[in-house]
Amino acid sequence: MKCALVTGGSRGIGRAICQKLAEELNYHVLINYQGNKDAALETLALLEATGATGEILQFNVADIQETQAALQNWSVRNPEAVVEVIINNAGIARDGLFMWMSPDDWSSVLQVSLQGFYNVTNFFIQKLLRQRFGRIINIVSVSGVKGTAGQVNYSAAKAGVVGATKALALEVAKRNITVNAVAPGFIHTDMTAEMDEGELVKLIPANRFGKAEEVADLVCFLASKKSGYITGEVININGGIYS
Ligand code: NAI
Repeated sequence: MKCALVTGGSRGIGRAICQKLAEELNYHVLINYQGNKDAALETLALLEATGATGEILQFNVADIQETQAALQNWSVRNPEAVVEVIINNAGIARDGLFMWMSPDDWSSVLQVSLQGFYNVTNFFIQKLLRQRFGRIINIVSVSGVKGTAGQVNYSAAKAGVVGATKALALEVAKRNITVNAVAPGFIHTDMTAEMDEGELVKLIPANRFGKAEEVADLVCFLASKKSGYITGEVININGGIYS
């Protein structure tokens, strides 16, 4: 059974990625979620409706013990399974000016994106090296590439993952494992639901927010066998806002 793991797969961009990896690349998808089991089950139902397979897997990516225990239990229960694709998608934002940023707003954002990358990817990396194939795709952000005012924590977390992407890509390239980052601009999801879209679209050359499915199409290409010579890259998907 060939598997793809998507962290934070219960809604938004993660859900769209789960659907495409299952439908287009025939992966058995491990839909990670932190708290919202109903939403995770909805994602599972969506992909099962197309004849694809998957399962839900609860753990908090920010917690190393919880992450390792959940993944270890799953591996023991599924000795024949081969995880080929890892999508580090879980992320949170705690926006505010840096001068008023609390220690918790700083560390929680880094903990989910950057520590979460470590917790999940480090668990699998030796297995990927042994199987001599893998695709690691990290969902970062335009903020991690150019920096965004009011998001010093989020920009730092995502930029940290960009650095990790480039460095890990060099370590594992010989074993046919690619590591890339996808940096979306404004995408319609819960994360952007409160934003003033009317004002923000004026900044976007394409004159609209992106769709989760559009990000998922790019991720799907990077997860496919067609992308084998692309590694250590950050691919922007932002309607022209920044490249
Ligand atoms: P979302 O808030 O709908 O989804 C984030 C997912 O991550 C949720 O399912 C949430 O439960 C999960 N999550 C959060 N903390 C977690 C934890 N500790 N453990 C496990 N899962 C956890 O937002 P969206 O937009 O779908 O975000 C997906 C990724 O895309 C995030 O990394 C976000 O930073 C990134 N992104 C989103 C953009 C947008 O405009 N929506 C733009 C740029 C990047």
